[in-house]
Amino acid sequence: DRRTAVEALRRLTVDVPDWPEAGVTFKDVTPVLADHAAFSAVITALAAAGRDDHGTVVVDKVVGMEARGFILAAPVALALGVGFVPIRKAGKLPRETHAVAYSLEYGEATLEVHRDAIAPGERVLLVDDVLATGGTVAATRELVEACGGTAVGVAVLMELGFLDPRSVTGDLPVESLLTL
Ligand code: PRP
Repeated sequence: DRRTAVEALRRLTVDVPDWPEAGVTFKDVTPVLADHAAFSAVITALAAAGRDDHGTVVVDKVVGMEARGFILAAPVALALGVGFVPIRKAGKLPRETHAVAYSLEYGEATLEVHRDAIAPGERVLLVDDVLATGGTVAATRELVEACGGTAVGVAVLMELGFLDPRSVTGDLPVESLLTL
């Protein structure tokens, strides 16, 4: 259940000071992924964001943001019985895309989605590992909307509350297993 997932996150996430640059503490979740019980628990907990109170699946697609978001979003999509869509960094997708430039905790980037990956009217759940400044989520929401879809929420393992990401994610519902 959710408590097991949160406990596993607390126990297994490793703080890496000054990485990838001085002053940033990187949250390394690879030990969570390497532990089957922990990985399974966090996927189940994230997937709950795609269901209503009765357990009915309320999303049509799950999108994951490159690169760590892929690892979580794909199994969440399978758990919900819906399709997975990759949100990729610039120049990786081979066909027609929508693109949005954004800034993140350290640096700048452009994200892209295939134009036909999300159909107009589809309800979309965003899944990533960490919500930091919120820039990645805001850009991804723009991409979903450029396709004609609706972002109905974002589910993350952890939220860095001290960076105030919700001032950037706005009215998008956020399900965060752990707030730091
Ligand atoms: C990290 C993380 C989120 C994003 C959060 O990804 O996985 O996607 O930053 O930051 P934000 O809320 O400030 O936008 P990163 O860009 O490091 O990519 P990676 O997973 O490919 O290493």
